[in-house]
Amino acid sequence: MKIFKTKVELKSYLNSQDEGRVISFIPTMGALHNGHLSLISQAKQNSDLVVCSIFVNPTQFNNSEDLEKYPRTLDEDLRALRYIKCDVVYLPAISDLYNENEQVKQFQYNGLDEFMEGKGRRGHFDGVATVVEKLFRIINPNIAYFGQKDIQQLQIIKHITKQLNLDIEIIGVPTIREESGLAMSSRNKRLSESDLEKATLIYKTLVFIKENKYKYSVEKLKDFCVEKFERHADLDLEYLEIVSLKNLQPIKKYNEKGDNVACIAATINSVRLIDNIIF
Ligand code: PAF
Repeated sequence: MKIFKTKVELKSYLNSQDEGRVISFIPTMGALHNGHLSLISQAKQNSDLVVCSIFVNPTQFNNSEDLEKYPRTLDEDLRALRYIKCDVVYLPAISDLYNENEQVKQFQYNGLDEFMEGKGRRGHFDGVATVVEKLFRIINPNIAYFGQKDIQQLQIIKHITKQLNLDIEIIGVPTIREESGLAMSSRNKRLSESDLEKATLIYKTLVFIKENKYKYSVEKLKDFCVEKFERHADLDLEYLEIVSLKNLQPIKKYNEKGDNVACIAATINSVRLIDNIIF
């Protein structure tokens, strides 16, 4: 496994590869779990060279405590990447990607950022899109993989990739879950056993929505589920939205199968978790 710390070295290595090679890219912020590894396994099946980046991108955090506490487990991450036979890892320092005092770029998302993460975390997606564009331009992959757990991020990245005219196929990979149903997330590392148990309400609620869509209207189902959270004082519900997968706008009536997504963000013991279900 080749490890590069600067874009100059990484680019020079990638330029030395055969032109016809299919390059896949998986950007991460480290603290790798089976969700990330499933993206890499899928990439390995569909390409000749798999590049993974590990970079905790400061511009996408609007809460300095969240940035500071973001788990950093580089040695373990590299061990896992070696084990799974990732070909190339890019580990940039902040200065390799950003100039001093550089501001994030402002993107147009056509309303995709209006609700959920875009509403609660102002500027978050500009930070994500800024770093993803930089990484795409350095690596120039044929395919890039993102988890469906961050469904709004996935849709926004598909949108900006088109907008920037980048010839990169964006593939969303289904969420990998713990046995309890809890979506795998780097942030789970910060939860105690009892918090992990309490956090299962998030996925249970999403499954409840999917299973009860024909029994209740969208509004009733939402109200009913919000009440469920109100009965669990340890879990602070930030939002519960049922939106169209295509435009991420809240729906009043269910769309056709596959174009409805229920999305939840909730905080437990200062750890913010998100999850969604497509139905
Ligand atoms: O999903 C993430 O881990 C990050 O948002 C990403 C895509 C690596 C950009 O920093």
